[in-house]
Amino acid sequence: MDSTDCASGREFIERAERLARHSDSPDHYTRTYLTPAHQAAAREIAAFMREAGMAVRTDAVGSVIGRYEAAAPGARTLLMGSHFDSVRNGGRFDGVLGILVPLACVAKLHAAGERLPVALEVAAFSDEEGARFQTSFLASRALVRGAASLDGLLDRRDADGVTLGEAMRAAGLDPAAADAGRIDPRTLAAYVEVHIEQGPVLLDEGVALGVVTSIAAGLRYLVKVKGEAGHAGTVPMPMRHDALAAAAEMLVEAERRCSAGGSLVGTVGVLGVKDGTANVIPGEVEFTLDVRAADGKAHLEAARDVIARCQAIASRRGVAVEVSRTHEVAAVPCAAWLQDQLAASIERTLGGAQARRLPSGAGHDAMILAEVTDVGMMFVRCGAGGVSHNPAEIVSEGDAQAAIDALLDFLRRFA
Ligand code: GLV
Ligand code: MN
Ligand code: MN
Repeated sequence: MDSTDCASGREFIERAERLARHSDSPDHYTRTYLTPAHQAAAREIAAFMREAGMAVRTDAVGSVIGRYEAAAPGARTLLMGSHFDSVRNGGRFDGVLGILVPLACVAKLHAAGERLPVALEVAAFSDEEGARFQTSFLASRALVRGAASLDGLLDRRDADGVTLGEAMRAAGLDPAAADAGRIDPRTLAAYVEVHIEQGPVLLDEGVALGVVTSIAAGLRYLVKVKGEAGHAGTVPMPMRHDALAAAAEMLVEAERRCSAGGSLVGTVGVLGVKDGTANVIPGEVEFTLDVRAADGKAHLEAARDVIARCQAIASRRGVAVEVSRTHEVAAVPCAAWLQDQLAASIERTLGGAQARRLPSGAGHDAMILAEVTDVGMMFVRCGAGGVSHNPAEIVSEGDAQAAIDALLDFLRRFA
């Protein structure tokens, strides 16, 4: 396959690099919802889709969706996709890989004048990480649930005080149109997402591709601790109500409880001291708490215990604590028939051994699509020790090629 091939691993890497240049920061790759960089990336993705022979539409929340018709009218749609927003200072392949790999396959079909029994759509979801407005899966939720998915979110503010509704209107989007863009589940054959593994399993085993068996459940909370601001030089230590010292104890407690084992994990990723100043005792602190587990109730029990401990710590220290849940997703199994078809394609195209099947600890748009259709996921090996949500995240040209070949085989045989 030469380097100009529209479905080559090299072309994939070049496109991923090009997209990564649309960043909110000149220093690193950060692309958050509806910033100028984010809107430029959406335009470039739309151009890639048109080049691949797709009809392109943008929905009410800014997702870009390309459609490649089936051989005959009336066929159902196989939806693929992933997100093009990123975490702050993130990796260039998280999400983008699941847009560019299916686009490469469609480009290849288009170049060969080939139509399939099923129509193909690729959704580039505008907001999954939710780094700007502390949302999660905003775009796939809008596609599945319509306007109701935005209830209570439009007044949410970013760090500069801009509301989500204002940002949408400034980008020419109409939140009220979200119902019209909602997908009709009766037209769907399935949803398939290709994603970088974001962990070291495939790397350790020397395997390029894997099939996801299930996606872990997740909970997220915003915790506000309110103490009393005061002078750092004058208030004796026993008389303080230091919100940050209380929060620090809560974080350590969260880490301890979420280290109970199995798939349970817990993370505090955001910590903010309101009006923080070197010579002021912190009066108010906010932090996020993210708790996940593969399945069952382990995450629910851990979150309940951590919240109870936070309340006990707060009352001992004479501070107030308020906990609100901002996100909840149940564990999602991937459909057995899609797992089998993806595995068969990986085995045919990679050759040899049985395809590796593994669970996903990370969340994906597939969790939301699972509300209305069967979902399947293919993982692509993550280089650099398996790191993700980190600028070192990397996918090799060869592994991108393997993913394109396997997905193309899957599409051609999809039944
Ligand atoms: C998405 O990256 C998530 O798992 O939080
Ligand atoms: Mn991510
Ligand atoms: Mn992702």
